[in-house]
Amino acid sequence: MRRPTSIAPPKGTLGVLTPGMGAVSTTFMAGVELVRKGYALPIGSVTQLATIRLGQRTARRSPLIREFVPLEKLENLVFGGWDIFPDTAYEAARKAGVLEPQHLEQGKDLLSTIQPMTAAFDQAYVKKLDGPHVKKAKTKLDLAEALKEDIQRFKKESGAQRLVMVWCGSTEVFQTPHLVHADPARFEKAMKENHPAIAPSMLYAWAAITSGVPFANGAPNLTVDIPALQELARGHNVPICGKDFKTGQTLLKTVLAPGFKARMLGLHGWFSTNILGNRDGEVLDDPDSFKTKEESKLGDIFGWLGYPMQIKVDYLCRDSILAAPIVLDLVLFLDLAKRAGLAGIQEWLSFYFKSPMCAPQLYPEHDLFIQLMKLKNTLRWLRGEDLITHLGSEYYD
Ligand SMILES: NC(=O)c1ccc[n+]([C@@H]2O[C@H](COP(=O)([O-])OP(=O)(O)OC[C@H]3O[C@@H](n4cnc5c(N)ncnc54)[C@H](O)[C@@H]3O)[C@@H](O)[C@H]2O)c1
Repeated sequence: MRRPTSIAPPKGTLGVLTPGMGAVSTTFMAGVELVRKGYALPIGSVTQLATIRLGQRTARRSPLIREFVPLEKLENLVFGGWDIFPDTAYEAARKAGVLEPQHLEQGKDLLSTIQPMTAAFDQAYVKKLDGPHVKKAKTKLDLAEALKEDIQRFKKESGAQRLVMVWCGSTEVFQTPHLVHADPARFEKAMKENHPAIAPSMLYAWAAITSGVPFANGAPNLTVDIPALQELARGHNVPICGKDFKTGQTLLKTVLAPGFKARMLGLHGWFSTNILGNRDGEVLDDPDSFKTKEESKLGDIFGWLGYPMQIKVDYLCRDSILAAPIVLDLVLFLDLAKRAGLAGIQEWLSFYFKSPMCAPQLYPEHDLFIQLMKLKNTLRWLRGEDLITHLGSEYYD
């Protein structure tokens, strides 16, 4: 790929649109507001806290990533979204029960102004869920066109110059690629014909891409992981990425597994129990939605001569607390990618996903450390800095 000669500076405000305003989305919005007001720190966000080493080690250049590449500032983010329930972001955050009342109050002024737009929803794709705040239309194409109108209206009303969309909606039922996903023409025909292989999340993705809006998929749904939408993304110069935010057990697995692999230790598998909370937990109570989410359950490790060992991790995580900074980083990096002229699948953002998207002829890279190296090297490449390979002189590189 040719390196962009320049990256357009972030002018004006950046609008963040989330289909789905539940636990993850509202924890993200509230968090940004709390950080802006100085009540909290953006812990877990690489864009806000991480540094990047540049050049030889003797140069001692390690700026903050947000000072090295022109990222939008938190002060300039505005928020919008869709949900099948009419609750404001404040109400939704309260019901999600992730944040303490004190934090909810500190973010209330902003959150209570964020009213969801009516959703493109079909219960056939999320069986355990139903709600009143939905669009009615004859065809899926009509629904998608209505989403495009929402996007334009939001842009006008919020004054945002640029937009990014991140799917934070419920996990849809498991789907495999279908012939109608093969190219944009077949996809659009299928939308007109209300074909069952077109899920609501795909309508949002189509609306975003054809409006020139970068799109990230935070759930394990197929969504943009199909040739039709990837081709459209390239054609409209839109960066896309997915899928399924890397939080919880998978985050730990992709930290531990590369360590075992590096030491050539054996792994029989992981045995894991996953206790799901929130509305997402209810949705995943349906076997079809859970199939989309199901995690591999493996076991013990073994060493020299095959001797068994065991590792136990008692990881009481808060999924939305881990997911919120991922949403923030994806928003800022996708916006950067767009201003740099990058389009199609952004594999350098694999770092944030459980099932990273990649070109069809490649296999996905899961190792968190390789993913981080790829992310940082992409940033160095964007700015014309030397890539860090750790291959140079032992004293300098
Ligand atoms: N750490 C995490 O929490 C985590 C990690 C990986 C993936 N995810 C995925 O992120 C998504 C959001 O998780 P959550 O915990 O916020 O769930 P949630 O149930 O709290 O929120 C999802 C919201 O999406 C809404 N929704 C469903 N279908 C919709 C549609 N078609 N249009 C608009 N809104 C719709 C629901 O009404 C709900 O309010 C889920 O798909 C989940 O699997 C979450």
